[in-house]
Amino acid sequence: MPTPHTRPDADPADRAGRPDTLAVHGGREDLTGLGVHVPPIDLSTTNPVPDVDAGGASYENLATGGRPGPGDTLVYQRLWNPTVARAEEAVAALEGCEEAVAFASGMAALAACLLAAVSAGTPHVVAVRPLYGGTDHLLDHGLLGTTVTWADAGTIGDAITSETGLVLVETPANPTLELLDLEDVVRQAGGVPVLVDNTFATPVLQQPRRQGATLVMHSATKYLGGHGDVIAGMVATTPDWARRLRSVRALTGGLVHPLSAYLLHRGLQTLPVRVRAQQESAHVIAEHLAGHPAVERVHYPGLPGQDPLGLLGRQLAGPGAMVAFAVRGGYDAAAAAVSRTRLITHAVSLGGVDSLIQHPASLTHRPVAAEARPHADVLRLSVGLEDVRDLVADLDAALGSGPGSVQVAGQI
Ligand SMILES: Cc1ncc(COP(=O)(O)O)c(C=O)c1O
Repeated sequence: MPTPHTRPDADPADRAGRPDTLAVHGGREDLTGLGVHVPPIDLSTTNPVPDVDAGGASYENLATGGRPGPGDTLVYQRLWNPTVARAEEAVAALEGCEEAVAFASGMAALAACLLAAVSAGTPHVVAVRPLYGGTDHLLDHGLLGTTVTWADAGTIGDAITSETGLVLVETPANPTLELLDLEDVVRQAGGVPVLVDNTFATPVLQQPRRQGATLVMHSATKYLGGHGDVIAGMVATTPDWARRLRSVRALTGGLVHPLSAYLLHRGLQTLPVRVRAQQESAHVIAEHLAGHPAVERVHYPGLPGQDPLGLLGRQLAGPGAMVAFAVRGGYDAAAAAVSRTRLITHAVSLGGVDSLIQHPASLTHRPVAAEARPHADVLRLSVGLEDVRDLVADLDAALGSGPGSVQVAGQI
């Protein structure tokens, strides 16, 4: 449990504007009391129980989604783990939420949200495309007992019924970075909880709780972990929803391993620095590609005309570090370009320190219904921390020709 004397201030809303400090110190409030400087990794799968009655009471509390109180035993790792709890606390603080719940992956996090909606008797989901291909597929398939109505940004309210348990959106969206006005989404949702997949923006650029979202989901595999060595998911939310999600997690077992939680928590410390540096390079690359003869169009919220609702600076602090672009010549040209990069790895995933490029229609968005699948000429680029001049040179070589090298202020 955190000790109050090391908290900079008590109100998460007050601290929400200072991500650099939260990223470094979040979820570490108990360390001084433990006499350590970095978080311990608690690997115990089980915990000794003092006696049957006390053990049973702790089990009852944790299995129904409660947090451990004074004197509680932790019983079993599927119910609670201190290393995981520290990472959860850090993400909650960064998102300006009271609590967060960690899962084995982003998809496990999404599945828990859907199962919670189903078990509450509200299995209908209203969702706006585009979404990550796995999310789209899970909703379209209805595997977990949900039904979906695909809505446009302006028709969310019309799609809601008495059975709607969630409104689900992604902004910026995977892969083509469309933006949604979250205040408007929440307004249209009425009382229905809004789930925002905040993977692309990260809490450094956008905190959907500020616009009234109830559930802020992450594939923590991406920017939060940041180094390509962790698969995890997170949902930052209210105490009531956190309890429900922990109870689903305890029942279904989609928990993250403490070693992964430790790496995720460590990765969070550099999240703001990474996101800002990667965003700076992404902006340079987006502008470069926009003038490139081999490129048909670029999707990047920081380019002129690509933020028609004026959300940059209001909802989204910056355009982020993901860039999508369409290659002239369609599928064949896109497939050729993506196979020719040398520095930029041709691979799915995103948000790490190294740059990755992939063809969404063939890979991440392959299971999406044909009418909603990204165009065959589109590539998605996750811009890393490499020198932007090397990234531009690699892209130019892969695209066959380029308009020339870029000048980057402050770099020699
Ligand atoms: C925006 C978004 N949400 C969710 C997911 C799923 O997360 P995971 O792969 O950690 O299960 C992904 C994965 O690429 C994603 O890009």
